Amino acid sequence: MRFQNKVVIVTGGAKGIGEAAVKAFSAEGASVVIADVDDAAGEALARSLPRATFVHTDVSKIADAERAVRVAEETYGGLDALFSNAGIQLYGRIEDVTEEDYERGMGVNFKGHVWMCKYAVPALRRRGGGAIVCTSSVQALATQTTVPIYAASKAATLTLVKAISMDHAHEGIRANAILPGSVDTPMLREAAATFAPGEVDATIAKWGKMHPIGRVIKPEEVARLVLFLCSDEASACTGAAYLVDGGLMAKIPVVLPD
Ligand SMILES: NC(=O)c1ccc[n+]([C@@H]2O[C@H](COP(=O)([O-])OP(=O)(O)OC[C@H]3O[C@@H](n4cnc5c(N)ncnc54)[C@H](O)[C@@H]3O)[C@@H](O)[C@H]2O)c1
Repeated sequence: MRFQNKVVIVTGGAKGIGEAAVKAFSAEGASVVIADVDDAAGEALARSLPRATFVHTDVSKIADAERAVRVAEETYGGLDALFSNAGIQLYGRIEDVTEEDYERGMGVNFKGHVWMCKYAVPALRRRGGGAIVCTSSVQALATQTTVPIYAASKAATLTLVKAISMDHAHEGIRANAILPGSVDTPMLREAAATFAPGEVDATIAKWGKMHPIGRVIKPEEVARLVLFLCSDEASACTGAAYLVDGGLMAKIPVVLPD
């Protein structure tokens, strides 16, 4: 029960990694604000938990971010941790990227962290300190074809987190990034359906084999890292990037013959 009497905001909390984190925070006693654009899924999840509130939040909109933090303080009396996790995938080579793709990709995946952190920092300060965790990706470090905007948004997120950690370490506000490999969420399943229609499970299993652990990562495994980083156990952890990638970034794709 590391989060008893603690208040946490999870963006993108209605599904996938965010949903797993919402459930894990709640199971350890937290009051949780679920900030998401999916009203039906977010409200249903909030109703299923003892102390949870859904707030319609498009993280790319500054007013929505401000409201999510205000709701946390007004409903539960403060804010102790922000898991800024909302993100979208988008595919296309650089020559095909439209202005709309760019605005949407950077808007959700980067600007969303900027606005959420902008309003979370003063709220965490009012509480005497706290933690921020932003979801980046292994794609901040190494990348693949057709993801220039997604990968760049994840690298920008990593640097944003480091810079925020410098400004606020002295006041007990820690900021870290998590870098997941392939995680079995609706986002990954949509990607599999895009590239291999009708072969979603087989494609995910194939992607899993490319990870040294031999499988994709479960959302709950990512949530466990997030909870650690948001807890007092991580009191010396700030300004860092934490891989939760089943060994993917340690792997050289050239394989020696048996
Ligand atoms: N699944 C993976 O393999 C993987 C790997 C590395 C990083 N990530 C990152 O993890 C995070 C979560 O991904 P996921 O796989 O759980 O995705 P998901 O699509 O399964 O869930 C994302 C959630 O974010 C919400 N969302 C989308 N746009 C939003 C917006 N503008 N404002 C607020 N909420 C919004 C969605 O409604 C959804 O509930 C993302 O930042 C993603 O880039 C995912």
